Amino acid sequence: MMLIQIEQIFPSLTWKIRHEVMYPELPMDSVKLADDFEGIHFGVYLEHKLTGVVSLFNEGDVYQFRKLAILSDAQKSGLGTQLMNHILDFCKIQKASKLWCNARVNAKEFYYKFGFHETEKTFFKDGYDFVVMEKEL
Ligand SMILES: CC(C)(COP(=O)(O)OP(=O)(O)OC[C@H]1O[C@@H](n2cnc3c(N)ncnc32)[C@H](O)[C@@H]1OP(=O)(O)O)[C@@H](O)C(=O)NCCC(=O)NCCS
Repeated sequence: MMLIQIEQIFPSLTWKIRHEVMYPELPMDSVKLADDFEGIHFGVYLEHKLTGVVSLFNEGDVYQFRKLAILSDAQKSGLGTQLMNHILDFCKIQKASKLWCNARVNAKEFYYKFGFHETEKTFFKDGYDFVVMEKEL
């Protein structure tokens, strides 16, 4: 049995995992977001070790999540799913109308599982293709 816990975490705790998982080739500072200190951040702990992160930002009742990342050794074992379900519950409690993200195209199928659908908005940034995906709550 694995011990899995999800906690709200301080913004700076997200940076190392974001960097390692998402942009190891870029400088550490590139994963720090201008509005990180206005965001709400969650971490998933596996056996008391911080193993994955996600960050939420809102404008009114519209919420965006950014920088969902699970350490590579721990991917595909359900931790990303648990974090997604956690932020979906959180958004519902906040009475959010919508949750959206800039999804890496290679992660699209992951988001379909949670009822996100693609919009027509796409772009290319830092070597990755993105599509805006959203879900009405
Ligand atoms: C994408 C990511 C957050 C998913 O978290 P995870 O813990 O690996 O995923 P889970 O184990 O909870 O779920 C995996 C499920 O999603 C599916 N899936 C689809 N695309 C996937 C992808 N790119 N990566 C992982 N799983 C993917 C798997 O097939 C699996 O389906 P199943 O449950 O029906 O077997 C994680 O792999 C990650 O950090 N990847 C690198 C960074 C990244 O791409 N972040 C998202 C940017 S938009």
